[in-house]
Amino acid sequence: ENKITIAIDGYSSTGKSTVAKQLAAALGYVYVDTGAMYRAVTLYLMRKMLVSETNFDKEAILRQLPFINISFVFNKELGYGEVHLNGENVEKEIRRLEVSQQVSKVAAISDVRKMLVKIQKKIGENKAVVMDGRDIGTVVFPQADLKLFMTASTEKRAQRRYDELKARGDVIAYEEVLENVKERDYLDTTRADSPLIKAEDAVEIDNSEMTLDNQFQKVLKLAKDKI
Ligand code: C5P
Repeated sequence: ENKITIAIDGYSSTGKSTVAKQLAAALGYVYVDTGAMYRAVTLYLMRKMLVSETNFDKEAILRQLPFINISFVFNKELGYGEVHLNGENVEKEIRRLEVSQQVSKVAAISDVRKMLVKIQKKIGENKAVVMDGRDIGTVVFPQADLKLFMTASTEKRAQRRYDELKARGDVIAYEEVLENVKERDYLDTTRADSPLIKAEDAVEIDNSEMTLDNQFQKVLKLAKDKI
C-alpha cells in the first residue's frame, strides 16, 4: 500500500482539524495541527509580554526564538499528538480567544515560519501524514499527494468557533469571535510570507451546508483514490 501526504489548508474555523483528525484515524496516519505550533509560539511571547494588543517588539521576539521548543507528544486516548511548549502541554491554553487575537501577527514573521516549517517538513518526511494549516499545500509540502482547501461562510465559521469556546466555558461574545475570524482571514491572506492561498491543484471544499459525515465520506474517497 502506498503511503501519501495529505495537505489541508483553508480559512480559520473551517473545520480543517476535524476532517484532518478523521482522515488520519481512518488511514492510520499521523495528524499534525500546524496552527497549534503558531499558537504555542504566540503564547510563549505573550507570557514574556512581547506580544499584546498594544505591544509588538519584533527585535525582542526574534531574540527569544532560540529559547522556544515546540514538540508534539502523542496522546493515546486522543489518538494524536498534543502540542507542547518547552515541555508543557499547552493544548488548552492556546485555544483561548486572547491567543487567537495575536497569533496572525506572530505568524507573519518569517523567522517564526522558517523555524516551524522546518519541524513540519521533518515530521512529514516519511509521508503517512495529514497536516492542516494555511501554507501546507503551497510551502510545506508543495508535492503533497492530496491537497484540500476548506472554505465556509464567515458567519458559519464564527458560529462554530463561538459554540466551541462557549462549550469549554469561556466567557465571550459572538461579535468578538466574528471580528477575530475576519481579522485573521485578512492578515493570513495579505501577509508577504506564505499567505493563505489555494494551491492550483487543491480540491476546494465548501462545507457551509455539509454534514460532518458527508464531508468525511467525500475526503476519504479522495484520499483512497490516491492510495
Ligand atoms: O489553524 P489555526 O486557526 O489554529 O491557526 C492559527 C493561526 O496560525 C492562523 O490564523 C494563522 O495566522 C497561523 N497559521 C499559519 N500557518 C499555518 C497554520 C497556522 O500562518 N500553517
